[in-house]
Amino acid sequence: MKIRLDKYLADMGCGTRSQVKQEISKGHVTVNDAVVRRPEYKINTDEDRVCLSGLDVAYEKYEYYMLNKPAGVVSAVRDSVDKTVLDLIDSRRDDLFPAGRLDKDTEGLLLITNDGELAHRLLSPRKHVDKVYYARIDGEVTEDDIIRFRNGIDIGDEKPSLPAELEILRSGRESEILLTIREGRFHQVKRMFHATGKEVLYLKRLQMGTLKLDENLAPGEYRRLTEEEVNAL
Ligand code: URA
Repeated sequence: MKIRLDKYLADMGCGTRSQVKQEISKGHVTVNDAVVRRPEYKINTDEDRVCLSGLDVAYEKYEYYMLNKPAGVVSAVRDSVDKTVLDLIDSRRDDLFPAGRLDKDTEGLLLITNDGELAHRLLSPRKHVDKVYYARIDGEVTEDDIIRFRNGIDIGDEKPSLPAELEILRSGRESEILLTIREGRFHQVKRMFHATGKEVLYLKRLQMGTLKLDENLAPGEYRRLTEEEVNAL
């Protein structure tokens, strides 16, 4: 990939675009051991060796973050009113996006990346990637609901929901459940429970494909994915 020298350095967290331009003009930046003073100089990210003040700045094509999304922020890149999930990530890259959406009031696992291909693989409706949710439900969740969810239910769309696996953790006037679904329709979990006459009080995503939410992350916290986690996806 070809990329401007100033963008390369800014993307790799070496400073803002104007800060790195200053470093470049001061002669602090070398490309393949030769000083380059033009910020627009094109770097080949696969071949060129870029150094700032004598230190290697390796290029990372993709970044992957696991965010424990808190309630109250929207799963968008930009929003004129609400805080977005990207506002929570401290990265200088301008091409990150959330791979999928959680409702504003939903918490839990959200992958933030700039890897479009991986996001497509995870989100494509044809791939049927498992998503596991924990929810607190207003009402008694019963064995009947397990069967209904397994058989697929009418949630007001053209087609019923695909078979989903419901596990009851606690059943009572308020219930706690785990639900695994293999699609990601708009408000899907809330609409599935609504179709059974119950409402979701709290919803949190725990897992997406092989990727599990790190329990050490408090809502609003995030960390980089490990190499194993990326490879497994
Ligand atoms: N289902 C919902 O209803 N909301 C979410 O945020 C995710 C799945």
